[in-house]
Amino acid sequence: MAARRTVVLNNRGGVGKSDVTVRLAAALAKRGRRVGILDFDPQGNASRRCGWRYNQGAPQLTVSEAVRADKVGAMAGVWTPVAWDVEYAQRMMLAPAWLELENRMAEAGVQGNHLRLAKALQGADNHLDDLLIDCPPSLFHLTQMALAAGHQALIVTEAEIDSILGAKRVRDFIKEKRHLLHNDELTLTGVVVNNLDPSGKAVEREQLASIRRIFGDLVWEPVIHRRAALTVADNQALPLELTKASGAGPARAAFELLAETYEKRSVDAA
Ligand SMILES: Nc1ncnc2c1ncn2[C@@H]1O[C@H](COP(=O)(O)OP(=O)(O)OP(=O)(O)O)[C@@H](O)[C@H]1O
Ligand SMILES: [Mg+2]
Repeated sequence: MAARRTVVLNNRGGVGKSDVTVRLAAALAKRGRRVGILDFDPQGNASRRCGWRYNQGAPQLTVSEAVRADKVGAMAGVWTPVAWDVEYAQRMMLAPAWLELENRMAEAGVQGNHLRLAKALQGADNHLDDLLIDCPPSLFHLTQMALAAGHQALIVTEAEIDSILGAKRVRDFIKEKRHLLHNDELTLTGVVVNNLDPSGKAVEREQLASIRRIFGDLVWEPVIHRRAALTVADNQALPLELTKASGAGPARAAFELLAETYEKRSVDAA
């Protein structure tokens, strides 16, 4: 059976899509789940944070080649272990990306090309329980391929007007376009609010209230607060357990609770 595939997205940049992908994946692996992180952003931020580097001297297969192949199961040869020195990382696999993935964008106009990721994943994620797909800050071709391949979509937003507008655009896009993407079953499963100031600034409190008004029950608990440890862990390509910066404990706890919400709120894989 295919992994449960979650597309993590917002066309607003810098809201924490890659962070939520990587840290939620880690929290799921801690719960014993076998988790894949599929980096579908040419920036390759999730890949780097998992300790992966593209080596020009010994080229590695990445998601870009799997998609270009346009063959059933092509992703099978791409998975690589997450290189973190913690026990649960044994249950984490990465399908990495780097700048080369930009080249797939030029192929957007070819009919049916939005189905290439779904095709590449067919039979190639059966060894996983969950697959989190980290999207670029765009609703164009790469994100459309991810939406065509996913079972559910998870929006990440900050309590800030432009990312909330981005979240609304994503919600409407999914509703209006999932049919054209040949994925009528795709469900918007939740909205994660990230990077909230823990001291509770009034302006952010107001924006959080408006997120709750707009998205209601779709808002997942807990809200993820701004924690220096997350930035440090990202910078150093470390798991939160090996990060000494302030807020590592609360950040870990928040993602562990978010993983519980994920398990309660996710749709069943097809
Ligand atoms: N809760 C948080 N606390 C502290 N720093 C955070 C938090 N979430 C994200 N960051 C930092 O904010 C920056 C943006 O996060 P991230 O790269 O995950 O966003 P993104 O939405 O994936 O960006 P892009 O649109 O470029 O893909 C990074 O430097 C990250 O370390
Ligand atoms: Mg990102």
